[in-house]
Amino acid sequence: MQWTGLNELREKYLSFFESKGHLRLDSFPLVPKNDPSLLLINSGMAPMKKWFLAQEEPPRHRVTTCQKCIRTPDIERVGITARHGTFFEMLGNFSFQDYFKEEVIPWAWEFLTSDEWMAIPKDRLHISVYEEDDEAYDIWTKKVGIAPDHMVRLGKEDNFWEHGSGPCGPCSEIYYDRGEKYGCGKPGCTVGCECDRYIEVWNNVFSQFDNDGHGHYSELKQKNIDTGMGLERLAVVVQDVDSLFTVDTNKALLDRVCALSNKEYQKDHETDVSLRIVTDHIKSCTFMISDGIMPSNEGRGYVLRRLLRRAARHGRKLGIEGKFLAELSKTVIELSKDGYPELEEKQSMIFKVLTEEEDKFNKTIDQGLAILAEMEDAMAAAGEKTLS
Ligand code: ALA
Repeated sequence: MQWTGLNELREKYLSFFESKGHLRLDSFPLVPKNDPSLLLINSGMAPMKKWFLAQEEPPRHRVTTCQKCIRTPDIERVGITARHGTFFEMLGNFSFQDYFKEEVIPWAWEFLTSDEWMAIPKDRLHISVYEEDDEAYDIWTKKVGIAPDHMVRLGKEDNFWEHGSGPCGPCSEIYYDRGEKYGCGKPGCTVGCECDRYIEVWNNVFSQFDNDGHGHYSELKQKNIDTGMGLERLAVVVQDVDSLFTVDTNKALLDRVCALSNKEYQKDHETDVSLRIVTDHIKSCTFMISDGIMPSNEGRGYVLRRLLRRAARHGRKLGIEGKFLAELSKTVIELSKDGYPELEEKQSMIFKVLTEEEDKFNKTIDQGLAILAEMEDAMAAAGEKTLS
């Protein structure tokens, strides 16, 4: 396994699947098109539902992308742990009524383990399949040659993928064992354990059903493949680092936050929480604005406003003086513009929106602090120590 930068990993994955006959497409925007079930694109397959359901003809029946994604259900955990983030990139290869399990499983293995590609040691990888999916189990064990002690069968909760309505199906996940030092040490700690030892890197979904959104599944006439591998997670493995925030590109951004605030990472928990929040959120904000989202009080505009204000607040907590978000977005653009040229094209708009919104927020905070100071003075004059 050789250290490889995140931008180069993205390129390698896409060219591997081009060599398997896939058409490489740009990431779709974060704003879903004609899909009221989603606020923001949260997986590689989300913008392609019509191709999975054969409602529209795809540009080719084999496609590969690296999709920018935002997921916010865990927003309160971001920063507190080193493994939660709101922004990530999802690598994917997709088959629309073309290849199925027989082809996709050996390809995933080839990409991860062959010397020409990722060269991850094979014995570090573990595989999960849906408990009733004998076909996938047999392909892994007989065709690829995985030992049964590296295979696990899991139930619907873990190994059946669906997100709202639309194409879905059983899945097979690939886990990387990071070794005992990341484990919880509890007996029975294995794939599926909540601790940090086994990290899921890749999910291969065998999309063979259509969920109408009310729990009714109809079998699709023709089968599809939907895969998703978190680019940052792959980088954690290949770069042998402890978390998403120490992957090369994220670390460069985090270092910039440290420089602006004159703080060091991994010296103090509370400081780390703020450093991680600013790092994660400025990335989400920069990408959202580049896709035309504006801060507002509802829908995706509210998600942006919330992320932006959280970043601004934690920047202040870190002691950064004055506005800093636009300055920091320059680093985001610099680090990601090769994969996402729209960032550079939209940079003046990004700076403008960030600056105006941060100004507004700072004024609100300053007014609030002035009111608080008056109350504190009044409290002191009255000899009181507690503000109700
Ligand atoms: N759509 C699948 C996922 O997001 C691959 O995990």
